[in-house]
Amino acid sequence: MNKKLWGGRFSERTARIAETFTASIDVDRRLYAHDIEGSIAHCKTLAKAGVITEQEADTLIQGLVRIKRDMDHGAFDLDESLEDIHMNIEARLIQDLGKVAQKLHTGRSRNDQVVLDVRMFVRRETVLVLEDLLHLRQTLLDLAKAHMDVVLPGYTHLQRAQPVLLAHHLMAYWEMFTRDFERFQEGLARTDVMPLGSAALAGTVYPLDRHYTASLLGFSKVASNSMDAISDRDFILEFLSDAAIAMVHLSRMSEELILWASSEFDFIEMPDAFATGSSIMPQKKNPDVPELVRGKTGIVFGNLVAMLTLMKGLPLAYNRDMQEDKGVLFQSMDVLRACLGVFIPMLAKVTFNSDAMARAVEAGFLNATDLADYLVAKGVPFRDAHRYVGEAVKYARSKGRELQELSLAELKGFSPAIDKDVYEILKPEAMINRRNSFGGTARRCVASALETARKRLEKDSRAVDALARRILKKAWAR
Ligand code: ARG
Repeated sequence: MNKKLWGGRFSERTARIAETFTASIDVDRRLYAHDIEGSIAHCKTLAKAGVITEQEADTLIQGLVRIKRDMDHGAFDLDESLEDIHMNIEARLIQDLGKVAQKLHTGRSRNDQVVLDVRMFVRRETVLVLEDLLHLRQTLLDLAKAHMDVVLPGYTHLQRAQPVLLAHHLMAYWEMFTRDFERFQEGLARTDVMPLGSAALAGTVYPLDRHYTASLLGFSKVASNSMDAISDRDFILEFLSDAAIAMVHLSRMSEELILWASSEFDFIEMPDAFATGSSIMPQKKNPDVPELVRGKTGIVFGNLVAMLTLMKGLPLAYNRDMQEDKGVLFQSMDVLRACLGVFIPMLAKVTFNSDAMARAVEAGFLNATDLADYLVAKGVPFRDAHRYVGEAVKYARSKGRELQELSLAELKGFSPAIDKDVYEILKPEAMINRRNSFGGTARRCVASALETARKRLEKDSRAVDALARRILKKAWAR
């Protein structure tokens, strides 16, 4: 009457339109490898508990590995009327193996099964994102090292403020992406929790050794409350918010590259391989890659809000609303990884126009603060010094000159405390090297920041290697 695995209590067929509406197979098919991996661990746990024999477990596992192989090769027709990936695989196993396969779902529900799959998926993707972020941070560090001699204006309000080393500027992004790395690493610890054994919501009557299941799947923890285990999606919310923050950083850096590539700034040349031309204006070379990274940020923000809204107000425990979690999660993961994937090689090939940057430092009175500090050092009260320098700037502007271009006599007109040693003070290099507070732009400080970053990357790279060994390894390969 009803071919569905849950069809027993039903006497009428599901309406086609309801079937299509409730099905999630188009989205959750991506979970098939994790679903099979989870089922293999479940078989072993059932056998260990004496619920099925070792021989039955072997038969089931071989059947599952065959299905995995078929799915890898696209030789598996998914059936929408079977709703989701879990039912498709189980139905196929029953078709292949007959009666014994009817035992697979003992002590398990799709509620704990689906969240296991998604946790394994997020765990794996997080390791891949961590690898990407390592790579991005290494690229920034390499660029910083290679450009220790380049000086550019630092900006506030997008107005030239004070000169900084390009290396210092680049390392500001290193800090952002390092925090992203930490966030994903911390999120991973909360994702890495094994829910199986919670069954539908209340736990199971079978003596399943849940720690054994966890060790088979490389999980470091077992969920401690069955109701929370099947309805917790915090790990998805966390991934989506970490992704949104990482996109903030990518989009800020993109914006900067776009500005710097403009003729108005002319600070960088975009690599040809990562730029595009205009179909009408032959002279154009457009920074489409950073523009699209900036643009795609909206999708990732939107998905975070969608997921927060989806979870808000859901009573315990499982609710079908939660099925919508995967679409937003997968899309944000894909966008983040695609952005990182293209941004890193593009960034590595950007060329920095150090002459244009140096020229920008010479113009715009970036040394005004330093002249005031100079007067303070000569005993002039700061408020007076501020006013004298303001007057000097006004005067120089009216003459179309910079402070360092005024004669000593002109400068003395604003304050007799000014002497010929002032010119040394007003040079960009001197200004930079005076900013030697911890974390400042002085060459010595930046060099030590680069060394700290190098050591930190070594440590993070060892941590990611260890995670990859544990998490990227597959049950059928164990
Ligand atoms: N496709 C479902 C989801 O993604 C699987 C769990 C369904 N559970 C249920 N009781 N209908 O959430």
